[in-house]
Amino acid sequence: MEFATRTIHAAQETESGTGALIAPIFQTSTYGQQAPGEHRGYDYSRTNNPTRARLEAVLAELEGVKHAAVYASGLAAENAIFQAYLRPGDEIVIPLDTYGGTYRILNRVFKPMEIEIRQIDIADTGALEAAITRKTRLVWIESPTNPRLLVYDIEAISQVAHDRGALVVVDNTFATPYFQRPFELGGDLVVHSVTKYLAGHSDVIQGAVLAKDAAIFEPVKFLQNATGPVPSPFDCWLTLRGLQTLELRMQRHAENAAAIAEALRKHELVRRVYFPGLREHPGHEIARRQMSGFGGMVSFELEGTAEEVKRFVSSRRYFTLGESLGGVKALVCHPAKMTHASIPAEERAKLGLSDTLIRLSPGCENAKDLVADLLEGLEQIELARDERHVAAAVSAG
Ligand SMILES: Cc1ncc(COP(=O)(O)O)c(C=O)c1O
Repeated sequence: MEFATRTIHAAQETESGTGALIAPIFQTSTYGQQAPGEHRGYDYSRTNNPTRARLEAVLAELEGVKHAAVYASGLAAENAIFQAYLRPGDEIVIPLDTYGGTYRILNRVFKPMEIEIRQIDIADTGALEAAITRKTRLVWIESPTNPRLLVYDIEAISQVAHDRGALVVVDNTFATPYFQRPFELGGDLVVHSVTKYLAGHSDVIQGAVLAKDAAIFEPVKFLQNATGPVPSPFDCWLTLRGLQTLELRMQRHAENAAAIAEALRKHELVRRVYFPGLREHPGHEIARRQMSGFGGMVSFELEGTAEEVKRFVSSRRYFTLGESLGGVKALVCHPAKMTHASIPAEERAKLGLSDTLIRLSPGCENAKDLVADLLEGLEQIELARDERHVAAAVSAG
C-alpha cells in the first residue's frame, strides 16, 4: 500500500457495529466488564482506549513498525524515553542543535538526577566516537533540527552508536514519516511531537514514541499507563482525521518552503537561509540521500537589528507570530525569544543560534501570498531605514 493510501486506509476499517465510515470517538473513561477482570480488552482509558489504539496502529503503519504509544505531548513522549532508559550515572549524547524543550528537560530534570548530558557535534564522527562511553545509553538525533534545519546522517551515526552499544532515538517531528523513515536508517526509537505536522491543524498537543521491536518498546509502553500522560480520545480522533491528509499537506508545505527559500536567498537583507533543499545548505547531500523531500520549514538570519527583527515577525499578514509549527496556517517564530529562550544566551551563542534567526512554518496557503508577505516585510525595513536616513540628513543639514 502506498503512503497516501496507508494514511487513509491502514488500521481504519469501517466500524463493525454500525458501518460508520469514520471511526467513532470512544469518549469513555471506563468499560463494563462481564465478570471481575473479564472484559473485551479495555478496562480503563488510561491503560487503553479504542480511539487511541487506532491512532497508535496508524502511526505504527506509517513509520513501518509494530509498536507505537501516544502521549499527551511531544515532551511527555520524550520524558517516557528518558525515564525508561536513563538511570543515575548513565549518559546521553545529544546534538548541538536540539529543540529547546529537549535541552530543558534534560538539563533541568534529568541532569539533577545524575544523568550526564553530552552535547556535541554529532556530525563529527571523531567527536561522536569520543563522546560515547560504556555509560552511554542513548544517542539522540534530531533531523532536520529545530530551528536551523541541520541535517544529520542517521545511518552513519546509528552505526557508531550501535558499535558502542547505545540505542539511537530519532526525533522525526520535522520530516514526518512522509519524508523520512528513521527505522530504515538504523533508528531504534522514533519520537514525534504529533502536535506539529502529524496532527497538522494547530489544534492538538500530542506526542508519540515508536519502537523497532517489542523489547525496546516495553519499558516505554509501561510508563504510558504507569505515569499516565495520555491524550484524550477526542485529541486522538483529531489526529486520525489530520493524518488522512498528511501526504497532501506535506507536499504543499514543502513546495511553499522551497519557494520561500528561493525568494529569500536572493534578498540583500537576508544574511543566510537555512533550508535543506538549497544546494549551499551543508546537509543538502545527506538530505537528498536520506529524505524523499526537504520538509516544510525554512529559517533565515535577517541582516538587521533586534528592533527590525521584532517588527518583521510581529507584523506579517499571513504568518502569525506564535510558537509551534506544522499546521495549515502559516506561523513565524523568533527562536531566541520564544522556542529556544530556555537555552541561556551564552549557550545559544556557542551553539551558533543567532538572535536574528527567524523561523518560518509555511502553511498550506498559496506560495505567492506567503512570499509576497515576506518580501513586503523586508521592503518595510528598507523603507524605514531610508526614512531615518532622510530625517538624519535633514536635521544635520
Ligand atoms: C522537534 C521537536 N521535538 C519535540 C517537541 C515537543 O513537542 P510538544 O510541544 O508537543 O511537547 C517540539 C516542540 O516544538 C519540537 O519542535
